[in-house]
Amino acid sequence: MIRFVYTSSSVKPFSNDELLLLLDRARRNNSKLGITGMLLYKDGEFMQALEGDEAQVHSLSAQIAKDPRHKEIMTVLDSPCTEREFPDWSMGFRNLNDMAPQEVPGYSTFLDSPLRAHTFVNNPALCRKLLLLFKTKPVGV
Ligand SMILES: Cc1cc2nc3c(=O)[nH]c(=O)nc-3n(C[C@H](O)[C@H](O)[C@H](O)COP(=O)(O)O)c2cc1C
Repeated sequence: MIRFVYTSSSVKPFSNDELLLLLDRARRNNSKLGITGMLLYKDGEFMQALEGDEAQVHSLSAQIAKDPRHKEIMTVLDSPCTEREFPDWSMGFRNLNDMAPQEVPGYSTFLDSPLRAHTFVNNPALCRKLLLLFKTKPVGV
């Protein structure tokens, strides 16, 4: 199994409807592929973790990288793992723009960091920390 984490910029801001559509499709596909993960959206930027079989994750990440709705994909992590961090989520999701920081303990320290900030891109452990904040309480758009 591998875990793959990247950040990217949306080509234009996503509406809630567009995010819902993306998520619906992602969840349907990922369930079939045995892929789990978490997607965060904030100010036109994404951070996504994908975990599952190596070939499946690499093939999906290549497909996602070709998606014209986002650009500047930067791989943060691509490494073997022995267990899933998001076993219950074919794709968890959080729109951080809609969130009151006090809803998620620990999030306030990340408030001022764009998802594509160097602090994240060069620091897989920090990305993991952020992504995991939403493990127990991800909600719809
Ligand atoms: C930021 C972002 C994250 C995405 N995540 C996933 C995902 O986890 N799974 C997925 O199947 N598609 C994901 N997509 C969509 C894919 O790029 C692609 O549109 C989709 O897999 C095509 O599915 P279809 O062949 O069922 O239409 C994502 C797209 C973007 C822009």
